[in-house]
Amino acid sequence: MLSPLPLGELLVANGCVTARQLDLALQRQRASGTSSVVSAHLVGRTLVEMGYIDQSALHECLYRQFATERENYLVDSVVQPVIQFERVVKVLDGRRVLDAVDLTIPANRVTAIIGMSGGGKSVLLKHMVGLMKPDQGTVRVGEQPLAGLFGRELSRVRGRFSLLFQGGALFDSLNVYDNVAFPLREKTKCSETEIRARVMRCLEEVNLVGMERKYPDELSGGMMKRAALARALVTDPEILLLDEPTAGLDPIIENAIHYLICDTFLRTRYTMVIISHAVPEIFKWCHHVIVLHRGKVLFSGPSREVNASSDPVIRQFIRGDLDGPIQVI
Ligand SMILES: Nc1ncnc2c1ncn2[C@@H]1O[C@H](COP(=O)(O)OP(=O)(O)OP(=O)(O)O)[C@@H](O)[C@H]1O
Ligand SMILES: [Mg+2]
Repeated sequence: MLSPLPLGELLVANGCVTARQLDLALQRQRASGTSSVVSAHLVGRTLVEMGYIDQSALHECLYRQFATERENYLVDSVVQPVIQFERVVKVLDGRRVLDAVDLTIPANRVTAIIGMSGGGKSVLLKHMVGLMKPDQGTVRVGEQPLAGLFGRELSRVRGRFSLLFQGGALFDSLNVYDNVAFPLREKTKCSETEIRARVMRCLEEVNLVGMERKYPDELSGGMMKRAALARALVTDPEILLLDEPTAGLDPIIENAIHYLICDTFLRTRYTMVIISHAVPEIFKWCHHVIVLHRGKVLFSGPSREVNASSDPVIRQFIRGDLDGPIQVI
C-alpha cells in the first residue's frame, strides 16, 4: 500500500505547503482518524481544512502524481491481462449489443470505457463479472473462462470483484452503515467489531461519517454515490468495476469523486474499470481507454493516444460535436 508521503512530498516540492504544515496535517489526521491507514485523500482533506492549500491545487497535484506514474508504467512494465474478451457476442431483443468484442483489461491499471449511450457499456461490464453470459465467444478472468465455473469456484472468482451499478443500487430498507456493511456480512466471516472498523474507515474516506443512520431516501444523489462507492470499496476488491460513478452529479461533486477514485487507485493499485461520460476529464487519471460503439471496440489503447485518434466517430464523441458520422436525432 502506498503511503501518503509521495503526495505530501509532491506538495512540499511544489511549494504548495511547507514540510511543517504537512507534518501538522499528518499529526492531526492520525489523531482524529478511525484507522491507522492514512490515505493521501485524508491528508489532503486535512490540509484543506487547516487552510494550508486550496482544493483545486490539491487535485492538480494528485493528477500530476498519477501522470508521472503513468509515464513510468508505460515505459517500464509488462501489462498483465486480468480480464479478456475473445469474440464475445451478445444478442438482446434481436440486437447484437456486443458484436464480436475482443478486449483486454490490464491488471493494476485504470481502464476507462467510453462511448455513446446505448452502445453496450453496461452490458459489457455485466459480462466481466458473469452477471450476463455471452451467446458466443469467451470471457476470461485470469486464465479461467467464466463459462466453465460453477458453485464455489464461480463465487471465488466473483469475490475478486466489486461492482458499483449505474444506479448506485443501495438497499432502500438499510441505512448507510448497514448498506456498506452488507457485502462483508454476506461474503466474509468478519466479526461485527471488524466490520465496524472497516465500514467506518470507508465512510471516512468518502466523507460520510455522521451519516451512518440515514436511509437512502434521506441522502442527496452525491451522498448516495459516495455511499455506494464505500460499499464497493469495503471488501478490498482486487478488481473494481464502476458504472458511471459520477452520472447525474454536479460538476463539483463529480470532481470530488474523480479525485477520490484516483487517490484510491494510487493507494491500493486495484484493477479499475470505469464507465464514464466524463470526457475528457477521465483521461487525466486513467492508463487505458476503450471506446465502445454500437457493440464494437473502436479503440483500445493508452489514454494519451485517444485524443490523437483520427477516427471520425471518436473525434466527434470526444468533442461532443453534433455534426459528424454519429446522427443523434
Ligand atoms: N437485460 C436487457 N434486456 C434487453 N435489452 C437490454 C438489456 N440490457 C441492456 N439492453 C439493451 O442493450 C443496449 C445496450 O445497453 P447498455 O445498458 O449496455 O448501454 P450503455 O452503453 O451502458 O448506455 P448508457 O451510457 O446510457 O448507460 C441497449 O439498447 C439496451 O436497451
Ligand atoms: Mg450504462
